[in-house]
Amino acid sequence: MILGIETSCDETAAAVVRRGSQILSNTVASQIAVHLPYGGVVPELASREHLRNILPVVRESLKTAGVGYAEIDAIAVTEGPGLAGALLVGISFAKSLAMALGKPLVAVNHLEGHIHAVLLEVQRTATESEFGSQGQSLALVVSGGHTHLYLARFANGTWTYRNVGRTVDDAAGEAFDKVAKLLGLGYPGGPWIDALAPHGNPEAVPFTFSQIKAKVHRKGQPGALDPAEEIYFSFSGIKTAMLRYTKVHEMSASIEARRAALAGIENPKPADALALCDQPTLDLIASFQRSVVDDLRRKTFRAAERFGAERVIVSGGVAANRELRVRFAAEAAERHIPIAFPSMALSTDNAAMIAAAAWPKFAAGQFADEGLTAEPGLALGR
Ligand code: KG4
Ligand code: ZN
Repeated sequence: MILGIETSCDETAAAVVRRGSQILSNTVASQIAVHLPYGGVVPELASREHLRNILPVVRESLKTAGVGYAEIDAIAVTEGPGLAGALLVGISFAKSLAMALGKPLVAVNHLEGHIHAVLLEVQRTATESEFGSQGQSLALVVSGGHTHLYLARFANGTWTYRNVGRTVDDAAGEAFDKVAKLLGLGYPGGPWIDALAPHGNPEAVPFTFSQIKAKVHRKGQPGALDPAEEIYFSFSGIKTAMLRYTKVHEMSASIEARRAALAGIENPKPADALALCDQPTLDLIASFQRSVVDDLRRKTFRAAERFGAERVIVSGGVAANRELRVRFAAEAAERHIPIAFPSMALSTDNAAMIAAAAWPKFAAGQFADEGLTAEPGLALGR
């Protein structure tokens, strides 16, 4: 039984997971309300909230799981990537706890955690041959901080990853958040755009994504991917295009009116915003979401084909998007390639995915030592 701890961004989370697949508890204290007035995560406030929440969250997760500290076999914690101060709260806590209890400590990459949010559920239902050591999966990790494609392979008890795609500027979730802010909607933006998009025409505004050529040469890294093979995302262009569109179509006054009206509502919801959006705004929102989802979909399946992946996994906060799930599932069905998403609760940041990713490392005796520290820029795989 592993106690997982996650504090890389704006959720303080703890979970107890048995054998990497059975979730006994999954506690998340969200800081959305704290960062809401700023329209984005404020790192100093995040660290302070983690400090305040970590002990109650860990206690709550043990209580829900019905286990005591003595029954835990190991403690797993996110070592990066993420906000340095935020990561440090979880790491310091996990290290102290492991030392005090005399239990092993396992360090987990947050991105690997997101992939295991899917694997832990798939492994519970699939047999080893369906989802075990055979073949490789193409994983799209798409969140507020990341848009990455990985080839994930399980062999000899260990997961290995190869990074085959990434964003050259903003992450997809960041684009959702910035565009929502630009349109006077709530924070974080993804769920707002998700809820409003079905009310608009997704073909009303044609956005185009430029093809990005490899500029960065990772020469000298053994086994590094040929840059021409790597797949690149870019989401800052569509953000600028959205801004330009609102200016050209003189939407500023209605955006500010919406922003002010929502600010006057206590705990505003997307349903409140719907009444404050005219049809051109809803069409713009729908077109934005369609463009981002289709760019992610095209490049993900192109990668799956190029690298001969046997299945596709989509994870991270943006994987909660309903249009994304529908359009990815449709393409997977057309191509006869299996696809898996995490349950909604495991799409966004949580600690169950950290405990799940730690399980094979625990089984292989891959433990962290007292030198473990925050790695804000930690990469996954080669
Ligand atoms: O994985 P996550 O909780 O944290 C990071 O590691 O970044 O992802 C948060 C991101 C935010 O950008 C949020 O707007 C986005 O996921 N998100 C969504 C949806 N729910 C959350 N984006 C699109 N549609 C959603 N339904
Ligand atoms: Zn995340």
